[in-house]
Amino acid sequence: MKAIVVTDQAAGTAGMTLVERPDPDAARLASLAGASYGDVVVDVHASGFTGNELEWPSTWIDRLGRDRTPSIPGHELAGVVSALGYGTTGLSVGQRVFGLTDWTRDGTLAEYAVVEARNLAPLPGDVDFTVGAGVAMTGLTAWQGLFEHGRLQEGQSVLVHGAAGAVGSMATQLARAAGAHVIGTGRAADRQTALDFGAQEFVDLENEALEDVGGVDLVFDVIGGDIQKRSARLIRAGGTLVTVTGPPEARPADGLAIDFVVVSDRAQLGEIAQRVRDGRLRTNIGTVAALDDAVAAFNPTERVKGKTIIRVRP
Ligand SMILES: NC(=O)c1ccc[n+]([C@@H]2O[C@H](COP(=O)([O-])OP(=O)(O)OC[C@H]3O[C@@H](n4cnc5c(N)ncnc54)[C@H](OP(=O)(O)O)[C@@H]3O)[C@@H](O)[C@H]2O)c1
Repeated sequence: MKAIVVTDQAAGTAGMTLVERPDPDAARLASLAGASYGDVVVDVHASGFTGNELEWPSTWIDRLGRDRTPSIPGHELAGVVSALGYGTTGLSVGQRVFGLTDWTRDGTLAEYAVVEARNLAPLPGDVDFTVGAGVAMTGLTAWQGLFEHGRLQEGQSVLVHGAAGAVGSMATQLARAAGAHVIGTGRAADRQTALDFGAQEFVDLENEALEDVGGVDLVFDVIGGDIQKRSARLIRAGGTLVTVTGPPEARPADGLAIDFVVVSDRAQLGEIAQRVRDGRLRTNIGTVAALDDAVAAFNPTERVKGKTIIRVRP
């Protein structure tokens, strides 16, 4: 199969190369010969990659901490199940699916991906594969950050950083639909995009004072650093700072600071797909490129807006 691999962390996305790799061994998966209980093979139709994945330790090591290079990056996918591993439950061959793959295993920038069935959900027939791949990671991250970790309630105010970005645009829409007051942030050029996704206010972090927003109940942070520290000071008593950038560097004076890593969740993926179908959730996809052009797509010469999706099969 064709796949993108990385071998050198220091090289970043410039070190991505398109190579031939062995196809998954369906017969071995169907037997008890390998440690592949409950895995399925997915014919990848569309694949997503998160911008700083090559900085994550899991891109380079397996669960036992061993070097796993050359690794196939990308952990977001939509495709069709083509083979079942021994012990698979809940999915069948020929089924359209979408979801996330294990961080510490080969990913989705390839013609086939081997994934634990429990990490996938059915993708309705009227939702395009590109859309499915575009909302899996971003939608789940936003959902879990707002509702599981942030416990967002109707009528609360939420500061969504990077509101025009891949995760932030999903958080903006979901928070607004939940009846929250949404203040988006980003760069000057992102204002209209954030407002179009449903933010009621916008703070241009490069030219405006974040502190002018006053108090908020929840901060959804995708930026970290100084922005996170200043945001923590805006949180009202009993409020929460949720971040996806790693261990929090700041805590609200009288509230919680939570960092989390997104987990695939079949029920939540189903809810996300339903919202896409009925128009309550819009994707934020910028570039769509073929696998042959993926290396160039992930090494753009100009600033990219929205998520880049690799359309592996036409
Ligand atoms: N923990 C988890 O489970 C999890 C899951 C998904 C994503 N993440 C992390 O979340 C982060 C965001 O991911 P994403 O896919 O949403 O990225 P993205 O599409 O690049 O979105 C980030 C947005 O924030 C803006 N931004 C970043 N720094 C800024 C600054 N200093 N001032 C103003 N605007 C700024 C970006 O603008 P520019 O494009 O101009 O920089 C972009 O619009 C990444 O670090 C990713 O690894 C974590």
